[in-house]
Amino acid sequence: MASMNTVPPHSTPCLRAGMVGLGMIFEDTYRPLFEQLHAEGLYRRSFGPVEVALSAVASRTGARAERLRLAGRLPAFISCAGPSALSELLRHPVDVVCVATPDDRHFEGARQALLARKHVLIEKPSVLRLQELDDLLTLAREQGVLARVVYHKLADPDHKKLRTHVVDGVLRHVNNGYCSLLEPKQISGSQFAEWITGRNPATYVAVHYIKLIDFTFGPEWKLQRIHATGQRGLVGPSEGPTWDSVQLQIVYLHPDNREAAFDIHTSWVTPDNFPGYVEQEVQFRFDNGVWNAHQRRRGVEVTVEGKTPHELKITPNHHYNGTFLEPWNQRSQRGYGIEVLQRFFEEVAHVEFGGPPDRRADRLEEVRRLSYADLSADRNTVAIVQALEALLQKQRHGQSGGVVRVNDPRGGLVLDLPGVAEGEILYPHRV
Ligand SMILES: NC(=O)c1ccc[n+]([C@@H]2O[C@H](COP(=O)([O-])OP(=O)(O)OC[C@H]3O[C@@H](n4cnc5c(N)ncnc54)[C@H](O)[C@@H]3O)[C@@H](O)[C@H]2O)c1
Repeated sequence: MASMNTVPPHSTPCLRAGMVGLGMIFEDTYRPLFEQLHAEGLYRRSFGPVEVALSAVASRTGARAERLRLAGRLPAFISCAGPSALSELLRHPVDVVCVATPDDRHFEGARQALLARKHVLIEKPSVLRLQELDDLLTLAREQGVLARVVYHKLADPDHKKLRTHVVDGVLRHVNNGYCSLLEPKQISGSQFAEWITGRNPATYVAVHYIKLIDFTFGPEWKLQRIHATGQRGLVGPSEGPTWDSVQLQIVYLHPDNREAAFDIHTSWVTPDNFPGYVEQEVQFRFDNGVWNAHQRRRGVEVTVEGKTPHELKITPNHHYNGTFLEPWNQRSQRGYGIEVLQRFFEEVAHVEFGGPPDRRADRLEEVRRLSYADLSADRNTVAIVQALEALLQKQRHGQSGGVVRVNDPRGGLVLDLPGVAEGEILYPHRV
């Protein structure tokens, strides 16, 4: 079979997507998905064949949209640029909006899209404060649409196996663990230079592991405390608001009153020629076992003169995302980073086309219950992000050593500083 392309019947239902942000993650995962969906469509028995089209994009300058158009692998789409790009995009008939802007701009993009009654998919972390999460959840309910977030590490086969062992009782009762994710300097120095001031690597990447821990070992346990500290001086001045590296500790309480603690270390100032490129390692310790995973030790190590470690990675993760020549001589790009996005479009297609219109609300609820991606299940992750950002902010102003307590009698998120009697309420309601 040379190609899977088939021409769908004229009446094939279509999902029109709007894309906000055309940066690195768009290029790595959304672009190949839209190309694939354009070529092959989407099919499941429950909803039949469905077309998915990238109809409109919004970005800061429009330059990447122009490059995308010139590449010619996607049919015509509308490109909106500048400060009102999103509102302009929303004037076009789209059914779905994917938000892949820098993390402190997710909320506004998602809010406007939900207000316009679009299904929304947000890149991790969904938002930075529980107050924002509450607003988006209320809007999604009022408008009868999905509000979901992408944490692709949940779809990594190794993490799926970890959760399978936990759910099946093979690995019992997690007690503690560590995770580390170190990004190269090139990320902070050039890729994100436009928006990095005031930001930190934990919000950007520790969330992968925060979510992994919360989703894999929860939901019966309760989040208790958050502590964070970090270093400055490389990306920006040592007294400034921009962080080089962050160490975060999160503590949960199991239903049997035993605590579990996890340390998550992140950085975006690792030398660019470090062989790990994005160096990732985890260890989780259980009552009856230990789970160790190391990105560089699970797969390929390759050196090519003049190409590694920059153009080609020394330890590539082909499971996340890779370009391949399939054994049947087709070129492809695939991996769990792309699969997880396709899954979202399948979920939307299921809601819209997966049965009679009068059962749409049931299908919407059915998808919302799939907590791996629903915004309603992102509360602990957002609480941890909100806490860590507040702790770093205090540290920047000379007040280090704070701790944020969760669902304390005083409030949902309460920041206590050494020597300060009154705690600061970051979020008043229950997390
Ligand atoms: N799933 C993952 O592992 C993963 C990996 C990288 C990034 N991300 C997430 O994706 C998001 C984007 O990251 P990136 O690496 O693509 O960043 P990037 O800096 O490469 O791209 C950001 C894009 O957003 C656009 N943009 C910025 N402000 C905008 C606005 N107000 N309106 C419209 N467009 C705007 C820019 O023009 C650019 O196209 C971040 O939230 C990040 O955490 C996820």
